[in-house]
Amino acid sequence: MRFKRPKIAIIGAGHTGATIALMVAQKEIGDIVLVDIPDLEMPAKGKALDILQTSPIEKFNVHIIGTANYQEIEHADIVVITAGIARKPGMTREDLIQTNASIIRSVSEHVKCYAPNSYVIVLSNPVDAMTYVCLETTGFSKNRVMGQSGILDTARFNTFIAEALHLSVEDVTSFVLGGHGDEMVPLVSYTYIGGIPLEKMLSKAQIEQLVERTRKGGGEIVELLGNGSAYFAPAASIVKMIEAIVKDKRRVMPVIAYLQGDYHVHNACIGVPVVLGGNGIESVIELHLNEAEQKAFANSVHAVYRTLEYIK
Ligand code: APR
Repeated sequence: MRFKRPKIAIIGAGHTGATIALMVAQKEIGDIVLVDIPDLEMPAKGKALDILQTSPIEKFNVHIIGTANYQEIEHADIVVITAGIARKPGMTREDLIQTNASIIRSVSEHVKCYAPNSYVIVLSNPVDAMTYVCLETTGFSKNRVMGQSGILDTARFNTFIAEALHLSVEDVTSFVLGGHGDEMVPLVSYTYIGGIPLEKMLSKAQIEQLVERTRKGGGEIVELLGNGSAYFAPAASIVKMIEAIVKDKRRVMPVIAYLQGDYHVHNACIGVPVVLGGNGIESVIELHLNEAEQKAFANSVHAVYRTLEYIK
């Protein structure tokens, strides 16, 4: 019997796309097609070949190519979209939204045409809105189109908590919900360290500082890098989602999902806890939020609706 390796297409072979490709290869999750625009086809091919030549050293057995030809993504099981541009000097936030929305529309048309049965994970920012654009353009069912933000935001929150307590990150569990912006909602009441509530280990003021740093976590990295945005942790977050789907893990994760009434959200894509498995988003988990969390979540949803207004 011949077993098929999953095929993972990554659109956008920039910092995040290439890092995802390397991580997917090292974990032998599947074969990889790295796609970029025709002008950047050579760098995409170069990155793919460089990763392939890592395989005899790291001992992984997957195939990887770089291309500008969308036909190569045919029959992909998973498509990750990292394509887009970063904000340039003089560009307004609204300009950026519209530019990236048109990139995501064009990429999604290709995905619809060449990989009509794929599960699609969007990373391009503003990711809540770009996930919506992808869902709308592909017309795929809502379990097959999702965005990444909550795994990354939760990882940032967990990192800061572990550092503050001088304890292992392995024992910290939490959830960050809502849109991927300054209004995101780190759920303090669902945060535990080895089963002990965070609120019993740090003062309110200390927790508030960690929450604020998490909300500004992306900006902190942008400032430190001086050029570009975070890509190691975003790539690792995407890889967790790919693994959950191709290995049918049924993991409980914060994922950007299309909501039609869940959490009182209608017709928008927002970060919520879901079960992620072989059918993509298997279900949305409704958590009980306290009054402050409900207010913060509503505020975050409002910010996402405002962004959506620019592209609807
Ligand atoms: N088709 C394919 N690739 C495209 C397209 C397109 N239409 N338009 C742009 N790209 C490619 C760019 O050529 C570039 O190689 O997308 C890539 C983006 O890579 P980077 O600029 O290195 O950006 P990166 O740091 O990887 O971030 C990608 O993820 O976290 C988000 O905010 C971030 O939206 C950004 C995205």
